[in-house]
Amino acid sequence: MTYTWNKDLETGNAMIDQQHKQLIACINDLLDACSQGKGRDKILETMEFVQNYTIKHFADEEALQKRTGYPDFPNHKKYHETFKKTVKDIIAELKTTGPTVALVAKVNTSIASWFINHIKREDTKVAKHVGQAS
Ligand SMILES: [Fe+2]
Repeated sequence: MTYTWNKDLETGNAMIDQQHKQLIACINDLLDACSQGKGRDKILETMEFVQNYTIKHFADEEALQKRTGYPDFPNHKKYHETFKKTVKDIIAELKTTGPTVALVAKVNTSIASWFINHIKREDTKVAKHVGQAS
């Protein structure tokens, strides 16, 4: 299953939305690679792309939160750190076991679904705050 951009995912902040679209495209590539049963190297390559883009996106989003004094910054940062660790762990597992069924399921729930829910629950709150602060 892949994800399509829709209004539910729009935060209203241009930078955040643009990066989210890019990240969803990366995640879709990853899910495609998994569902097409691509080999370990290809999946690893797309996973690492997701990892790198996530690191950049989170850093930009956190800088924006700090700049505008977002009150829930400490918790939001914790969510980001946990997610980065999850991605790191999945990459380590992928290197050891290859793309097993269990691992692909983890990509779906711990990466794709997590990210979509994070946008809906948390990033919309950030964008609302940033909109009011600017
Ligand atoms: Fe976030």
